[in-house]
Amino acid sequence: MTAQLLVDLKCIYSNAKLIKSFTKRKLIAVLKANSYGHGIVPISQSVEEVADFFAVANVDEALIIRSVSNKPILILAPVFSSEELRICYESNFHITISNFSSLNFALNFARKEKKPLKVHLKFDTGMNRLGFKARDFLDNPSSLIDKIKNPKLLEVRGVYTHFPFPENTSFSLKQIDIFKSVLEKLNFTSPNVLIHAANSMATLNFPEAHFDAVRVGFLLYGVPPSKKWLQKFKKLGLKRASSLKAQIIEVKPLARGEGVSYDLTWKAPINSKVAVLEIGYADGILRSLSNKGWVKLKGRECKIIGNVCMDYTCVLIPPELEVEVGEWVEVWGENNPLEEIALAAKTIPYELMTAISDRVERRYI
Ligand SMILES: Cc1ncc(COP(=O)(O)O)c(C=O)c1O
Repeated sequence: MTAQLLVDLKCIYSNAKLIKSFTKRKLIAVLKANSYGHGIVPISQSVEEVADFFAVANVDEALIIRSVSNKPILILAPVFSSEELRICYESNFHITISNFSSLNFALNFARKEKKPLKVHLKFDTGMNRLGFKARDFLDNPSSLIDKIKNPKLLEVRGVYTHFPFPENTSFSLKQIDIFKSVLEKLNFTSPNVLIHAANSMATLNFPEAHFDAVRVGFLLYGVPPSKKWLQKFKKLGLKRASSLKAQIIEVKPLARGEGVSYDLTWKAPINSKVAVLEIGYADGILRSLSNKGWVKLKGRECKIIGNVCMDYTCVLIPPELEVEVGEWVEVWGENNPLEEIALAAKTIPYELMTAISDRVERRYI
């Protein structure tokens, strides 16, 4: 066995409930990338009772959820394949229309099939990634509105935007204003059109961004994005739902001056003890943590020494700590905050979660 990702499904359920109760809005649970590495089926089942909607990155992910749930599912990207659009009809998926190419493709398809597609219109209010540029739309709203008004071709079920920088209050508040202007021009009054904008951080930072639903992924796992969020998470009751563990498979002494792992980048300054963990960069422990990261063993921090290998990672055992082959260390989790490991790896917790590969066992409690 290599490593294990332990996932507390009850905790994810309770985080989802807390999000709903403090926003008092519908919840779109974003379960893309295998539910941020946690397992798309178990996570969708754990939040099934609480979520009003699921959102994923593509049709394949949507199909996996559809095999276990009848909830509405939004695909967060435009779909440019007739085969996939046919699946969207059959499986009742909502697709994103984010530009005129995707709009024309969907319209032509719906015209041929003589059936309306369920769509969410995405507006770009400042991220400059996906979405109709809000500024262009506001300059010339009819260029879009005229094209979407045939209900025999398109059923508009949602309008949304996305926040690139929710830590920046003035930028995000400006985005909210722009989005509101877009909504005003669109003037949808039907309760069937779901207005949504807030991802996890915007959900926490801006109640004015909650609209009809919040679109949340990361928050489900209860990991504060950085230290400054610890208190707020405690207050809200959000709890860490997962931990990555690895087993010690070898322990050996090192004489002063001996090196460890490929390229021998770490040399023992004094006689030392190294433990070899059965987890490597092919499992999701980033190589950038070589000589920078640490794991927790019996409450003690053990530094990663030498280069992280494909299948193994070496850690320095404090001299007074007794350790045996077969013991488990916490790579990140309740006692070893993921956000701090991410900082050491010069990345974000999202990347570390989604980097966990298939060969790591997911164990659900
Ligand atoms: C369009 C969109 N909405 C919502 C989310 C969820 O973001 P978070 O995981 O920060 O809640 C994402 C995730 O990247 C996204 O791309």
